[in-house]
Amino acid sequence: MFSIRTTPPPAAVSRLAARYLTTISSAFGTTTHTLPATPGHYNSKTLSRFTIPIFSSPSTNTKLFSNLPPQTKRTMSSAVAKRLAGKTIVITGASSGIGRSTAFEFARTAPNHGLKLILTARRVDALEQIAKEIRQEVGEGVQVLPVKLDVSQPEEVRGFVGNLPEEWRDIHVLVNNAGLVKGVAQAPSIAEEDINVMFATNVTGLINMTQAILPIFKARGSEGGSGDIVNIGSIAGREPYAGGSIYCATKAAVRSFTDALRKELIATRIRVMEIDPGQVETEFSVVRFYGDKNKADAVYAGVDPLTPDDIAEIVVFVVTRRENVVVADTLVFPSHQAGAGIMHRKST
Ligand SMILES: NC(=O)c1ccc[n+]([C@@H]2O[C@H](COP(=O)([O-])OP(=O)(O)OC[C@H]3O[C@@H](n4cnc5c(N)ncnc54)[C@H](OP(=O)(O)O)[C@@H]3O)[C@@H](O)[C@H]2O)c1
Repeated sequence: MFSIRTTPPPAAVSRLAARYLTTISSAFGTTTHTLPATPGHYNSKTLSRFTIPIFSSPSTNTKLFSNLPPQTKRTMSSAVAKRLAGKTIVITGASSGIGRSTAFEFARTAPNHGLKLILTARRVDALEQIAKEIRQEVGEGVQVLPVKLDVSQPEEVRGFVGNLPEEWRDIHVLVNNAGLVKGVAQAPSIAEEDINVMFATNVTGLINMTQAILPIFKARGSEGGSGDIVNIGSIAGREPYAGGSIYCATKAAVRSFTDALRKELIATRIRVMEIDPGQVETEFSVVRFYGDKNKADAVYAGVDPLTPDDIAEIVVFVVTRRENVVVADTLVFPSHQAGAGIMHRKST
């Protein structure tokens, strides 16, 4: 209980207090902190003590929250967390990079709201490790189900929902993140195998996953369905570059599919959203250079790329808007990038 008195309460302060009461209350959680109902009990000093960290200064904000005892942090409840209550979320490509970060970000955002995370990828050991780390960090409030799934194999995708335990099938959010780039070869020297794996994963895999989950969304509610599809595209889908013709073509295909699907689902509450990152430091470049870490590191020399957490925060942001808000299309760069090949490199 915060009990703060001032006599007499200045009118402006009372108005301020009334305006911020709900926000302060929701930021601190309803179970562990109760605020007095009368705005007159606040003064400007007290208000700034509680409002400035929350509304004006991110660094003070971080300090305030990091100083809270762990249990208080655990029980913090907000409108954002409540919008995830009871939801089941599927993330493809959750074993590393953006997908892995997205799993942690969802868990941290709603640690006590009955959230279920279905993490999929080919490397199931990595998924099991992530499930363990999430449990260590947030406890048993988030359930995590690791599922081995190669999205480039249509028969695996076809069996995906049917093979889930019954209580995991009511899926609300699909994050289509699995994807890869192979090589920097230019036509006519691009390996057929690389062409096929990029299209089978980035395009056909994403479309097949969407088709597998969409019937669940369409059957929900009375407005033609509800649920969220978040497709991870790329700046490469908007600005094709030499040495990336196939990858760029796959991401352009994702963009077209996403935009068409949003139009097809116009009469429903199903949100179709795309996030297009610029340069993010993940295993992406290691995969591009067939495991050659030195070549991958050279991609990031002298630049300050995005982190996978940066994109994960945006995924969680778009999913946790009010149901009538569709963040349809988002392009995200680090500050020194302004296009597919437009980077400011510090001398190294
Ligand atoms: N990093 C960037 O600069 C960047 C920029 C724009 C867009 N993106 C996009 O962001 C997404 C995530 O990439 P990332 O940067 O996080 O790279 P990453 O660290 O290499 O992660 C890629 C993920 O996709 C999974 N994956 C690959 N092929 C798969 C398949 N056939 N079936 C199932 N999962 C598969 C991988 O898991 P397994 O290997 O365990 O299967 C891994 O979890 C991709 O769609 C990528 O195109 C990345």
